[in-house]
Order: sequence, then C-alpha cells, then structure tokens
Amino acid sequence: MEKVHSIAVEQTQNSRLAQVDFENLNFGKIMSDHMLLAEYDNGSWQSVKVVPYENLSLSPAASALHYGQAIFEGIKAYSLENGQISIFRPDQNHIRFNKSAARLEMPEVPEEIFLEGMKELIRTDRDWVPKNPGTSLYIRPYMFATEAALGVHPSASYKFLIITSPVGAYYNKPLRVKIETHFTRAAEGGVGFSKNAGNYALSLHPTRLAQEEGFDQLMWTDAKEHAYIEEAGTANLLFIMDDTLITPSSETILRGITRLSIMDIAKKWGLKTESRKVSIEELINGIEDGSVTEAFAAGTAATLTPIVEIGHEGKVYKLSDPATRAFSNKVLAYLNDLRYGRIEDEFGWNLVL
Ligand code: PLP
Ligand code: COI
Repeated sequence: MEKVHSIAVEQTQNSRLAQVDFENLNFGKIMSDHMLLAEYDNGSWQSVKVVPYENLSLSPAASALHYGQAIFEGIKAYSLENGQISIFRPDQNHIRFNKSAARLEMPEVPEEIFLEGMKELIRTDRDWVPKNPGTSLYIRPYMFATEAALGVHPSASYKFLIITSPVGAYYNKPLRVKIETHFTRAAEGGVGFSKNAGNYALSLHPTRLAQEEGFDQLMWTDAKEHAYIEEAGTANLLFIMDDTLITPSSETILRGITRLSIMDIAKKWGLKTESRKVSIEELINGIEDGSVTEAFAAGTAATLTPIVEIGHEGKVYKLSDPATRAFSNKVLAYLNDLRYGRIEDEFGWNLVL
C-alpha cells in the first residue's frame, strides 16, 4: 500500500455555510462544503485529496451500480465545550470498514487515508460542526466499485469518499417496532456483519410494510427459525432484564460501536451485562411479567432511542414511560457529557483534533 504523506486541500470558492439553518437541522439533508476523494486503481491507492463537494462522474457500467460492491460507515464529530472538535472512536469504524471491504472482495483503506483523511476533512470544514445541544457533524466514509465491466468479478478500481453533514436527531421520538418473522435481513455465512449497501436496500420493503401498520422500525430475527431477536434496521438493540443489560449476539448483526461503548460503560458502573441469544419468547414474557424494564435502539445516527411498543403476531406490547428509565437516561447523559467534553474522557474514546 502506498504511503500518503500529505493530503492536498482544494478550498471551495463558494461556501454554502451561511445558508444553513443550524437551529433546524434534520438528518443528512445538507452536505458540508468539502469531501475527501481517493481513487484506487491497478492494485494501489493512486490519489487522495480534499476537494469541494461536487457531483461525481461515473461510467454507466460502473460495477457498484450493477452488483453492489459498496460499503460505508457512520461516525460523528462533536463540538466540545472548550471549542475543540472531537471525533468519537473513528479507529473502530476504520477496523469495521476494512472487515466489510474484505467480505466484499474490496481493497483495504489504510489509516493514512481513512483516519488522516478524515481529520484533514474535518479541519477544513470545522465551521460546519454544529454547536447546539444534540447536534453533531455526521461523517460518512464510503467506497464503491467503479470499473466499467458487466462481468461478475471484483472491480479493478474503486472510489473512497468521505462526505459530512451537520445533523440533529435521526429519531425524534421513541420507537414503535415490529418483530419481523417473515422477511430475513441476514443469514449465517452471509454479509449481515458488514456495513454494505445491500443490507439497507433489502430492509426498505419489509420496513415500509411495517410502517403501513403504524410501526417505525423492525426488529429483525434470525434467518433459520425467526425465533431470536437480532437488531433493528438502523441500530442495535439492548434491553434491561432483571437488572442485567442484555444485547443480542450473533455473527449476522452489525457490531455497533455505540452498543459496545454502552456495554463498556455499564460494566464500569458494575452492572451485569450479557451478550447472548435473546428469543422472542423471552422478550415478550419479560415484558408481560415486568422483568423487561427498558428497551432501546443504539447507533451512531440513532444515538440512544427508547423503544415504547413492540408488535408481534398482531399484538402490541407496551413498555415503560421513557422518562422513568434509570439506565437509559443515565447512560445517554453520560455519553453526551463525554462526547461534548463536559466530563473526563476516562475511556480515551474522543479523538480531539
Ligand atoms: N446496526 C445497523 C444495521 C446499523 O446501521 C447501525 C448504525 O451504524 C448499527 C447497528 C449501530 O452501529 P454503530 O453504533 O457503530 O453506529
Ligand atoms: C449510522 O448510525 O451511522 C448508520 O449508518 C445508520 C444509517 C441508517 C443512518
């Protein structure tokens, strides 16, 4: 792999920053002024630079458009109390990105491009990192196959980009989720653990059907029996059952960095944690007998979103009022304090620029 020593920055002459309404940010509608662009060809990374955000030019035969060699990541940068900017655990996303790449027979993206490139991009667009409570700069690294070829084989060329977007909440209300027992997200041996575009494409139809029934999201279940809870379409799932923090574990789900962080915080606080199979039956029984006291979705975009209703086989099971949930509220407040630099970063998770 070629070593990149410095990343050229081409500044935009037409900043769009003044047009942004930072008081009313949605999720991912506005893109910042610059992007990182790296090109892979002939077995190595050829170029990497920060350039003004602009449209790409592609062959209509580019293989990502046909066969789906496309992966991505999601990370957030925060504006700290002291005015510095910090990126939350991007080293973990880098590791996961290269695992996704390996599974899809795509090239590894080295640290000099993924992490150093990200830092250079965020420094360039530092004024785009929003400062209002609950806001952040969402960072979207992604890579896709660009070879113009209709044969099914790994592409010889790729583009790796990072774009960013100032964001508020992805979910602005507690979730009503449906347990999905007909469609499958991922089977053992498949690509469920990787963050590839196809995992999201396949979720759209089942999710729309659930939304027509009044739900916001799905709780996917295992492919073999549809008996075990896996994850939501956009986040991992965690439950407090009998004073234990439990998250479903399976090789078919995305190993979320938010979930990992929450489990680590809980362990440090002395809470019992378990990463294991969770059956639908155990969850429903636990809601009915009162042992499941909290349920939430956790992810970079979703942060921590309480689940208030779970639909299964035509019945809706209601959970506690989110305002009364001791662990969820405490851990979310702690994560926010840590990410916005209001408390000591005891885990060393903030990459401060
Ligand atoms: N599961 C899926 C399907 C996701 O899209 C996400 C979001 O990235 C997660 C889980 C949570 O992962 P993380 O906490 O690393 O953002
Ligand atoms: C993220 O949380 O970063 C994701 O990639 C989820 C996506 C559906 C917005």
